[in-house]
Amino acid sequence: MKQLLLTCVLLMTAGYAMAKGEASYPVQTKNTTLLLEGAVGEPLKFIYYGPTPASLSEIYDSGTALRRNAYPTLGNDAPQSHALQVKHVDGNMSLELVVDGVAQSGTEDVKITEITLKDKVYPFTVKLFYKAYVKNDVIETWAEYFHTEQGDVALQKFASAFMPLRAGDHYLTHLHGTWGNEQNMVEELLTRGSKVIKNRDGVRNTQTDNPSFMITIDGKPSETKGNVIAGTLVWTGPYKLEFDYNSNNNPYVYESTPVFEIVMGMNDEASEYYLPRTTAFKTPEMVLTYSTEGKGGASRNLHRWARDYKVINGHKLRDILINSWEGVYFDVNQEGMDEMMRDFASIGGELFVMDDGWFGDKYPRDNDVTSLGDWTVAKKKLPGGIEGLTQSASKHGVKFGIWIEPEMTNLKSELYEKHPDWIICQDNREPVPARGGTQLVLDMSNPKVQDFVFSVVDNLMTKHPEIAFIKWDANMPLMNYGSMYLPRDRQSHLYVEYHRGFNSVMERIRAKYPNVVMQACASGGGRVNYGYMQHFDEFWTSDDTDAHQRLLIQWGTLNFFPAMGMASHVSTVPNHLSQRVVPLKFRFDVAMTGRLGMEMLPKDMTATEREYAIRAIADYKSIRPLVQQGDLYKLVSPYENNQYASLMYVAPDKDRAVLFAYRTLYMSSYPLFRFVLDGLDPDKNYRLSEISRMDKDKPALAQQDKIFSGRFLMNQGLTLPVNSVYGSAVVELTEVK
Ligand code: DGJ
Repeated sequence: MKQLLLTCVLLMTAGYAMAKGEASYPVQTKNTTLLLEGAVGEPLKFIYYGPTPASLSEIYDSGTALRRNAYPTLGNDAPQSHALQVKHVDGNMSLELVVDGVAQSGTEDVKITEITLKDKVYPFTVKLFYKAYVKNDVIETWAEYFHTEQGDVALQKFASAFMPLRAGDHYLTHLHGTWGNEQNMVEELLTRGSKVIKNRDGVRNTQTDNPSFMITIDGKPSETKGNVIAGTLVWTGPYKLEFDYNSNNNPYVYESTPVFEIVMGMNDEASEYYLPRTTAFKTPEMVLTYSTEGKGGASRNLHRWARDYKVINGHKLRDILINSWEGVYFDVNQEGMDEMMRDFASIGGELFVMDDGWFGDKYPRDNDVTSLGDWTVAKKKLPGGIEGLTQSASKHGVKFGIWIEPEMTNLKSELYEKHPDWIICQDNREPVPARGGTQLVLDMSNPKVQDFVFSVVDNLMTKHPEIAFIKWDANMPLMNYGSMYLPRDRQSHLYVEYHRGFNSVMERIRAKYPNVVMQACASGGGRVNYGYMQHFDEFWTSDDTDAHQRLLIQWGTLNFFPAMGMASHVSTVPNHLSQRVVPLKFRFDVAMTGRLGMEMLPKDMTATEREYAIRAIADYKSIRPLVQQGDLYKLVSPYENNQYASLMYVAPDKDRAVLFAYRTLYMSSYPLFRFVLDGLDPDKNYRLSEISRMDKDKPALAQQDKIFSGRFLMNQGLTLPVNSVYGSAVVELTEVK
């Protein structure tokens, strides 16, 4: 029986698993082991994370065992980095946690190890969870706190996980950016001292940094080689990842080897949390994977895990959509939308999304200064209401989707007039508005606001069950740190309670509407993380739709997030942000590496372009399972090569693949570039065929219909006709038996 349910057993540590240490607890996936150790009454130690050895004794005998506190707390080891810091009811600020028991539960595929730690003196319990996704080589870890002190214990730091590494040449890969330029990949050697990646936007927690990282164990990062740990936090709110090259090392306490420490979790800044007696506090899950095949292996582990377990409807193919925003912005009317649907349907499109500008009865949403919160149709623009739009969609044979920004309001809105106390705002101060000079955030810690936000979706879905897609936007930070709902002495709970409120609304929505496709958007890519992806089917990657810059943004994103969730749209030229003009084929070929869509008026294409777009969309449909469900192999990085970029997707059983190759700069008289493939079966033979062809009457690439072994392609590679700037090629490989 595949899903063999293991009975939940409380095991005394001594009987759990004996290795050289007193009592050790291996958390194991198909290829990796995270090893912890600690007898009952002793501290829990982190021993090892890496490839599963032939026997656990190899870890001890080789001197690899780390023996660091697995979940260090402020207390009698103050100089060390710590994961948890509390202030007890009597003012004492220390914890001394020891193992109380270990339990295991779950299935053959997903095993949970639960380790209970208790303070030696205070009635304060910490449970550490390690959830092993066996076939994906992924381990999720989090903590839960509980106490029976006579009052509230103040949580001052509450990380999800702590991980020590043997100090060495660690390179950090992470994402950094800003609006319109999100998810840029940054790689740097971590030198002595601390590096902190954090966010406190409060709403859009991935506009600048992302709570995801990769760290090498042994030198420079490579896509294909070397040991890499990747981590990503499942939390929608402010976060903090701390990398500390042990400047605090205390020679009297530790072995002399310097150790590198990583602390990962929610951002504790301005967030002291008062935990009442007998109430549990759960940290978000930190997701870890270990790869011996470089960064590429780590990305594939995360992508497979995300599709199998995390992203909503992770194995469902996503539709090709057109979004109205860059086509018309706020200039919404029934005729224009009907025309856009008709034109998109005629080239093979599947779904139309009505973006911003459709709502506001008393105050029509003609620009970004009014109406958020008033989720009734703007009748002057759309006299037929949403019904008019859904009827157009069904007439043209496309599905219908709609944009909302339900956590927000504007000073000029019926909602704000009715509920001025629902906004995030400090007592005794004027709120600072953001977008349009009038936008404000609703207080998601308030259950009435939560009900309202749920009702926005519920009303739309109840009245218009045809809605197949919701784009959920959020276009301002949590500027004003204050809640009119939370008590004065609990204002520091705002970040946590805002996001708990948000998550509980999303859970309600998903329980009632599991199949509506939802996109997480926040001024572009402000919500690209697994906190969101457990509720959403996809994310809007960036408001930057310039195909050249998207190569970089998407490359960064794909390190951690699967292509099926990466909304990638073909827009017009000159691009509205960059003013760059690139050929339609290049724009399509870039957008086809994610969830393909359009963000322009199809009628603006020439007849030749339209004829090509029909072909490109049909071709995308045929490779859609490869892109959205296949394994990603990154070949030529746009961060390293200023002339070329390339990646490919391979079917899980390696009988089919698709290769994307791009040229972004032309330098005269350079040697011909070879695109060396990866991820194929060396012993399989593949027939090559060019797709997404601009001119179907011109000869295709020289290798058209030729057969090559996987071995040859992964060894010698191919030269491809990407000879001029913004040349691109898409090649399908099909196994020949
Ligand atoms: C920001 C989003 O990123 C855009 O795609 C668009 O939906 C606008 N908001 C609408 O205001």
